[in-house]
Amino acid sequence: MEQVRIKSPGTVANLVCGFDILGLALNDPFDIMEVKLLNEPKVVISNRDDFNLPTDPEKNVAGVVFLAAMEKLNNSEIGFEVIMEKHIKPGSGIGSSAASAAGAAVAANHLLGNIFSKDELVQLAMNGEKLASGVKHADNIAPCILGGLSLIRSIHPLDIISIPAPDLHVTVVHPQIEVRTSDARQILKQQVLLKDAIRQWGNIAGLVTGFMKNDYDLIGRSLEDVIIEPVRSILIPGFDEVKRNCKEAGALGGGISGSGPSIVMLRKEEKTARVEKKVMN
Ligand code: HSE
Repeated sequence: MEQVRIKSPGTVANLVCGFDILGLALNDPFDIMEVKLLNEPKVVISNRDDFNLPTDPEKNVAGVVFLAAMEKLNNSEIGFEVIMEKHIKPGSGIGSSAASAAGAAVAANHLLGNIFSKDELVQLAMNGEKLASGVKHADNIAPCILGGLSLIRSIHPLDIISIPAPDLHVTVVHPQIEVRTSDARQILKQQVLLKDAIRQWGNIAGLVTGFMKNDYDLIGRSLEDVIIEPVRSILIPGFDEVKRNCKEAGALGGGISGSGPSIVMLRKEEKTARVEKKVMN
């Protein structure tokens, strides 16, 4: 196989209370990448969208992942050419950089005859997140590659668990501003109060249990973030009002999607999702 066309989905990282350790894949939106195998050691990138992302492979999230794959292979007769068609807006909070990074890892793997394990794909793709946000984190990458819902128990060493979940409808509203993940990480406090930590780990455990037991009420009660949201929500105009209105309209709960500015709401019924869409508008 010398050419592959892949779809790489948007993702919701953190899942409200699980900063850096929980994430889910969305059906929509998704990026499209067309990737060709080259027989010389170079990476050629072109864009079929209007985001003007860098085409220098060292400065491109997908580019650094291809380079990392080439380094891992240690084969000087392999390179990649990619056409990026991004639909996930960079800086929107639904895993735009992860879609490029994970897409590059998965496409390279297909072209090379599926030589990398899932964990190796996540490791490779995290190079892209490092370029985009300054830090390796896998809460967008893992669900982007594995689908569904992922728990990242640890990244050193990598320990990723796919969590079964009941049907959930996810609404994401994107305020027309951009928040860089690196900036949204910079403003976080480096220390947390023990009482907040206790509440947060109660919520994370409750959320995972709720997903596994199909307990929507427990999911709703656990969708609370007392550590990150109070700091980051000040970057998002109208955040409190949107959240309150959506909950009044029947959402189980929600919060900031990834590092924002998108706001995510989870619900049981699609009908409620439609009402919620109106409330968000
Ligand atoms: N867990 C990361 C953060 C996700 O919140 O900074 C970024 O998309």
